[in-house]
Amino acid sequence: MRKRALGLLVMVERTGEPLLVRTPEEFRAACDAQRLTAGPGSRIGFVPTMGALHDGHLSLVRIARARAPMVAVSIFVNPTQFGPNEDLDRYPRDLEGDVAKLARAGAGLVFAPDPASMYPEGEETRVRVGPLADALCGPLRPGHFEGVTTVVSKLFALAGPSVAVFGKKDFQQLAVLRRMAADMFFPVEVVGAPIVRESDGLAMSSRNAYLDEGERVRAKALSRGLSAAWGAHAAGERSVGVLRGLVQRAVASVSERIDYVAAVDPRSLRARADDATLGEGETLLLAIAAHVGKTRLLDNVVLGEDPSPVVTSTTAP
Ligand code: PAF
Repeated sequence: MRKRALGLLVMVERTGEPLLVRTPEEFRAACDAQRLTAGPGSRIGFVPTMGALHDGHLSLVRIARARAPMVAVSIFVNPTQFGPNEDLDRYPRDLEGDVAKLARAGAGLVFAPDPASMYPEGEETRVRVGPLADALCGPLRPGHFEGVTTVVSKLFALAGPSVAVFGKKDFQQLAVLRRMAADMFFPVEVVGAPIVRESDGLAMSSRNAYLDEGERVRAKALSRGLSAAWGAHAAGERSVGVLRGLVQRAVASVSERIDYVAAVDPRSLRARADDATLGEGETLLLAIAAHVGKTRLLDNVVLGEDPSPVVTSTTAP
């Protein structure tokens, strides 16, 4: 298996196309082969995804490439992180299109397993993280983070990456995975990548594909609300209630169902009370989970740390 993977990796270098592997055994062998050919101290960068790739994902690949000579990307719609009434079946899938995008982004290896090979008959182990997973989305999506940590620890065990990159749009997921990597002594640096936005501010997400034209217009209110709070904070506002209220109002004007508009400490994810005032140098995560039409959207900003969520054009109106 390793010999075959080695041969294939050499071929990949010649063609510039990523090597596509479908089984855990092939993925492990290809990563081992990469370490063997690249020599001691060689690093593998890793970007786990569920596919339906957009520019946000490709930015993760670029960040990984800047830190490692070879980047592996997994494409796997992980069933254990979806609840019974969620969108597992209709989650967008486009393996061929994804591989073409990854070739352009310079990924070396793509792992696209099927569910039965990731969760073979008889498997029963799950990885559970504590209070970080109980905040924000935790109570609304029971079992979700356990599914995420379980699949990512399986993927880490196969790839043995030196660095893994996750987007900050899923801020809580990033926090939970950082905790998991540290607690389980995975020798991997977990890197958080800035949210990539459409030109009007909407955070890129594979689920944006579900939005119809009217919903797409309404969805802009999420980043607009965060931007209003960012602007108020930049102008000196330090009341948690006022900052959170700016986002709440914007989201309430478009959302059929708000799961939360939360103000939390970015490290512990513990809620900050509306009557609290931010101290000198204190940061605040404003996080949204809200439905527009049937689509659940996430967005966030860390005040005192992130740039404004909406880039204002200095040229044409
Ligand atoms: O963010 C995602 O796409 C998924 O939750 C992840 C990290 C690939 C695990 O399935």
